[in-house]
Order: sequence, then structure tokens, then C-alpha cells
Amino acid sequence: MVASDVELKNKSRRGMLKVIGGGVIFAAVGAGGYLATRDPSAARQPWLNVGQDEVDPRRKALSYAILAPNPHNRQPWVIELKGDDEIILYCDADRHIPHTDPFDRQITIGLGAFIETLAIAASKDGFRVDVDAFPEGEPMPMLDDRPVANIRLIKDASIKADLLFTPIVHRRSNRAAYSNEKQLPNAAIAALSNSANHGTLVGITNETQKVARLREICVEAMRIEYVTPRTLGESIDLMRIGKSEIIANPDGISLGGPFFETLALIGQLNRDEMRDPSSFAWKTGLDNTLSPLKTGTAYGWLVSEGNSRVDQILVGRDYARFHLKAAELGVSIHPNSQALQEYEEMTEQFSAIHAELGISKPQRVQMFVRMGYGSDVKQSPRWPLASRIRKA
Ligand SMILES: Cc1cc2nc3c(=O)[nH]c(=O)nc-3n(C[C@H](O)[C@H](O)[C@H](O)COP(=O)(O)O)c2cc1C
Repeated sequence: MVASDVELKNKSRRGMLKVIGGGVIFAAVGAGGYLATRDPSAARQPWLNVGQDEVDPRRKALSYAILAPNPHNRQPWVIELKGDDEIILYCDADRHIPHTDPFDRQITIGLGAFIETLAIAASKDGFRVDVDAFPEGEPMPMLDDRPVANIRLIKDASIKADLLFTPIVHRRSNRAAYSNEKQLPNAAIAALSNSANHGTLVGITNETQKVARLREICVEAMRIEYVTPRTLGESIDLMRIGKSEIIANPDGISLGGPFFETLALIGQLNRDEMRDPSSFAWKTGLDNTLSPLKTGTAYGWLVSEGNSRVDQILVGRDYARFHLKAAELGVSIHPNSQALQEYEEMTEQFSAIHAELGISKPQRVQMFVRMGYGSDVKQSPRWPLASRIRKA
């Protein structure tokens, strides 16, 4: 193993390309049991022991809430438990993504998804969840140390278990390539279109020409994010490469499993090279990022009436419902947020996607997702619940 590592590093860039195409990686994978031990399964533990051993109904519901979708898997939630029935939700000041989310819009959507997942889980145990969003005012332009929401769990005999409880543990953001043939059935499109119940407008298209036009905007937006050094750099800084890094920091962009472990082992996942547009790693990274975006048969989008903090929370709540419904139906979802981002280089794509979808101010496209059918992917890492609760 060490010998092939050295040998590979000594090859020319062209040589390395051939090596990767030629299957030496796979020889290395088979060379020992080492890679089989590199699965970062400990980072997925919160998915497996969710709801177990929790006596306090708030903690039980929170153990589901931490599985919510959220941008760059930053898991921006910090929780305080107050009295017998209250939860105070805050945004963790260390979890902003300032270059791609300069106004914390996506972070706030993730916090909304957290609240909805909490409410769905609480309903299973007969609790109603009363939410007072931004009780001390809406922080602009960034979230601050004021509460995002005061939340109360109230036992309520009229509450029925939300059917979206079951898919909470099956939901995944799926970045794989999707089938270009398999269409969403009309019944699935109808169910997904009706999945929101907090006032968000949901649109879906599988019309070939429209999908092609939207794809062009998304692919170009992703290319812009990639070739802009500070936005690419933000993603690289959040990469957790291999088992040890993922377990040490179970958030951000996790590159785990035998394939990435092997690339790291042979020196092909070097952060400095990834930032360097003349490197093999940079060019391969661009191809690998763009190619799955060109697959799938449909797009979906969520639109709010305005862009206040409360609007963003409500969209987050509805995005959680939309994604859970997709998980229930076996439809793969991949948010493609680039064209919706608020930085200068993205201005043209931002206008193009809003124009293509016929949305203008004060309405705002808040989520845009690639849809279709892709192969199964594993759960993304999570910090354990205990690490996200702080003393009041
Ligand atoms: C507001 C928001 C924006 C997101 N944007 C993207 C995106 O542009 N690209 C992407 O691959 N995933 C995106 N995601 C998905 C997250 O990366 C994903 O939810 C997170 O990594 C956790 O993984 P999981 O959804 O599989 O639990 C977004 C999620 C949210 C809530």
C-alpha cells in the first residue's frame, strides 16, 4: 500500500489520470482490510438511536429534529431547555456560511426545517408545538444571539400523529446522478405539490424544455460558485475528509467511504490542490460537481410571499414536509441552491431563475431542487443531541 502511494505521487499528472481510470485505486481498495474499517459509522449514530432512552418529551422530539436538512450540514441549532415544557432555539454563531449565505437566509431555512421535524416528532407522542418565532425581533442582515424561536410542547388530545413521522429517518439529500428516463408519476407530483402547510407555494416541472432551461441556469450557477475562489474555499474549509475528520467534526461536507479514503491515501484530496485551478484535483472536482447536476427528470421549487425571517422559517418548515413526502414516495431530492444565493457574481443567475419560474418581488424562490431517482445514499453525519443543548 505504501509502495503504491509513493509510486502514484511520483507519476506525472497525465499518469495519475490514467492510474485513476485504470483501476489502481480499486487494487488498493482490495489490498487490505484497512479501508473496510474506515466507514465513519459513529458519526451516523444519532440516526440509529433516535428517540431511545429519552424520558423528557422535549429531548425525545429534539433527537428527531437534529436530523433535519440544513445548509452545508452546519447544524446551526443550539438549544436551551426552560422549565418543564419550553425549548429556546438559537443559531450557533460559529455555524454561519458567510460567502454563500451572506444574510443567513439558508441557515434560517434550516432552523425552520428543524422546528418542523420537532413538531412532527412531538405529534407522534400527542404533543402540540406552539412556536413564537423571533420573540425579540427579526435580526437583519445576519442572525445574532437573540432567540430564533420560543417553543412550547403542550399535551393535546386533539393532536394526531403526523404521517410524515415515519420518513424522518429515511430522508436523505441525494447528490448522486439520477435516471434520465424514469419520470415522477403524476400522483407523486400532486402529493408533493400539496405537501406544504405553512403558506409556501410549491412548483414542480417535468416538462422537457423547461427542465433543460432550468438545468442550464443551475449548472452555470454551480460553475460560478466553483470558479469563485472565496465560495469554493468556503466549501473546501468545510470538507471533512475521511473517517477521522468526519468523526471529529460530524458536520459540513463529509467525504467518507472507501473511494474518498483511497483518494486521500494517494494524495489526491489535498486542500491546497483543490483550490488551485491549474491542478488535476481542481479540474476533476469541477467535472464531478457538475455532472450529476445534468441528470434527473424534474425540478421543484418553494416560493415565499416575502423574505422576512418569519417567511424563511415557514419555508424551512414546508421544505422539511416536502422532502419528507419525497422520502415517503421514494423520490430523490438534491437542493441546487447556487442560483438563489445573494452574492455579486451570482446576480445574473439569480435573475434568470426567478424569471424562468415567473417569480418577482416581493415573492422569492427560497429552495430549488433537482428531482428524480438516484441510487441509495447513506445518512449524513450528525452531532449528538447532548452536544447541541446548553445550560440556560
Ligand atoms: C437551505 C438549504 C440549502 C441547501 N442547499 C444545498 C445545495 O445547494 N447543494 C447540496 O448538495 N445540498 C444542499 N442542501 C442539503 C444539505 O446539504 C443537507 O440537508 C445536509 O448536508 C444534511 O444532509 P441530509 O439532508 O442528507 O440529512 C441544502 C439544504 C438546505 C436546508
